[in-house]
Amino acid sequence: MKLWGGRFESGPSEVFERFSGSLAFDRRLIDADIRGSQAFARALERVGILTADERARIVQALEQIREEAGEAEFFEGADDEDVHTLVIRKLQEHAGAVAEKIHTGRSRNEQVSLDVRLWLREECDRVRGLLAEGMGALLELAARYPDAVIPGYTHTRRAQAVLWPHYLLAYFEMFARDWERFGEARKRANLLPLGSGALAGSGFPFDREEMARDLGFDGVTANSMDVSGDRDFALDFLYAASVTMLHLSRLAEDWILYSGEEFGWLELGDGVTSGSSLMPQKKNPDSLELIRGKSGRVVGSLTSLLFTMKGLPMTYNRDMQEDKEPLFETADQLSGALEMARVVIESARLDPEKPLAAAEDSWVVATDLAEALARAGMPFHASHRLVGRLVLESVRAGKRPADWTAEELARFAPEFTPEIARLLDPKAGMQSREVRGGTGPRAVAAALEEARARLAQMQR
Ligand code: ARG
Repeated sequence: MKLWGGRFESGPSEVFERFSGSLAFDRRLIDADIRGSQAFARALERVGILTADERARIVQALEQIREEAGEAEFFEGADDEDVHTLVIRKLQEHAGAVAEKIHTGRSRNEQVSLDVRLWLREECDRVRGLLAEGMGALLELAARYPDAVIPGYTHTRRAQAVLWPHYLLAYFEMFARDWERFGEARKRANLLPLGSGALAGSGFPFDREEMARDLGFDGVTANSMDVSGDRDFALDFLYAASVTMLHLSRLAEDWILYSGEEFGWLELGDGVTSGSSLMPQKKNPDSLELIRGKSGRVVGSLTSLLFTMKGLPMTYNRDMQEDKEPLFETADQLSGALEMARVVIESARLDPEKPLAAAEDSWVVATDLAEALARAGMPFHASHRLVGRLVLESVRAGKRPADWTAEELARFAPEFTPEIARLLDPKAGMQSREVRGGTGPRAVAAALEEARARLAQMQR
């Protein structure tokens, strides 16, 4: 069946049909398409195109189609152009001639926008749920080692000591922003496009607000041409997904390193690692590598749709059908990666001795010393220079901070009082960082509390 054909003398070539058909992938929208058509039937009744009886038959038949669509053989042999055509053909089979009226004053251009918006709305909710679960796992891992100290890095060089929970809370913040982004993407998608027609607005006096309420939308779109040519809602989702995957990928990158022999901080569960077919000793972080790898595909999907859209003249162009595969592919990869990340986080065990030793073996306390001198009145540039000389001297002599006694330090420079010498211990220096958002132990405990409360809020 076709939803067009009157002005053609012959049908589409087999090659064109194969090339242009989207049923193979847009069948994922069938539930949304049916819900949309049921609401549209009710709207058609309100403008007098359908009788109450006709509307009831259509809604009922669509309900039946929805149930059948759950069965494997439903799509077998279907060669319809797209899911919208398929649903109307099935409607004809179930409800007979009255199906001829369902498309009155409606275009597939707005229908496809409607379906994707309905689908995206649920997908955003699902992703937010997965994000919240991942954040919960991070908080549990933080609580398991509340006092563990690690060296924080810049430029992959040991920089300053931080608490392990402080490090994990950094990822919590990233995922919390992702959670918000999906909320914003959902909000922008959650407007009713129906009533826009092909591009000029429908020729029937629909009460669009009423339709919006029927389908649970927050409101209606404002311009029919915009609706016909718009895929911003898909791009919003792809962008939010790309940033989330980027965050997951960076966490994966960290932990691939932290769980390797060179760091040895983290042990990943057997359940999320794999062995080598040749090297018996190997325990490889494949789960994390695949999260990192799949992030490339998701960013690729965003790029793909950006490029599809960038040169399109107003309004609808068939190019826009190319939005669906990147969108669906992204939703699948994102859900898979979020779920995988949560399981990896749950499986991770920290050996707190290792990162502590890494902190103590380095000069992560240098900034603490310089700032203490500045607090005691020395201009910061001077204290920076003085501690720099101390580090240079230590590197030459092969001395770690703990190898200095308070007396030796005072001999190196009298400004190093016993009070300041205490800061040779990285744990002591952290106590001066109780600024809000810093790694001071009290600040971190408060941040953890706050994060728990925020997460509970997100999960409500
Ligand atoms: N399947 C198309 C899409 O996904 C919708 C069909 C609109 N086709 C058309 N020739 N106007 O974008």
